[in-house]
Amino acid sequence: MGAMTKSPPSTIALDGPAASGKSTVGRRLADSLGYLFFDTGIMYRAVTWIALDHDMNLKDEAAITELAERAEIDIRQPSQDDGRACDVVIGEKDVTWDMRSGDVDANVSVVSAYAGVRKALSERQRQIGLRGKVVMVGRDIGTVVLPDADLKIYMDASAEERARRRYSEIIERGGTADYDEILSKIIERDRLDSTRAVAPLRPAANAIIIDTDQLNEEQVYLRVLQMCK
Ligand code: DC
Repeated sequence: MGAMTKSPPSTIALDGPAASGKSTVGRRLADSLGYLFFDTGIMYRAVTWIALDHDMNLKDEAAITELAERAEIDIRQPSQDDGRACDVVIGEKDVTWDMRSGDVDANVSVVSAYAGVRKALSERQRQIGLRGKVVMVGRDIGTVVLPDADLKIYMDASAEERARRRYSEIIERGGTADYDEILSKIIERDRLDSTRAVAPLRPAANAIIIDTDQLNEEQVYLRVLQMCK
């Protein structure tokens, strides 16, 4: 009998705070395993974008919840080679980068704190995740969406390091940015994401925690890949 080869984990949950590098690492990991890469933050951002676009009152929990339940968010193969992992299309409008605007950043935590919004979106996420062969990235994948995931990773980094990364990202895309402003927004978003009543940001009990402050993207990627072997 030959040596037993262990197959890689089929459902991989990758959680962590804003700008911890989980999307970049998750995308590479999914590519190398031939898995689907699913960034769940897109769904919360899309609902927030629609609400802002329709001038809805974000404090109207019932209306925002209803929006999350019926929103048609289309995720398609990338149509452009500009750093996007996919196209996000709402009503035939390509909102891939609009969804990353400061306006959405500032309001997405309010929207994602609503229990009904989380229920609607995490149910859709679970359906996709349970098909397997997926790297799912978010805040509550290991704790709520896929509590039985085969591998759970929680990527962390200090707010300062994450602000530096976000800053460089914007500059590299040709934009302008203010470091101090980015830092204070990251701290505020962390606070809202980790103190909300429903599915707060925290590592699952059986998650492997990686502190990425002293690691570059390549090192984190190799470490995560190693865990899948
Ligand atoms: O990962 P991101 O920055 O694109 O996520 C945007 C927001 O969505 C973030 O502030 C918290 C929320 N979110 C969430 O609550 N649960 C998830 N699984 C993913 C994102």
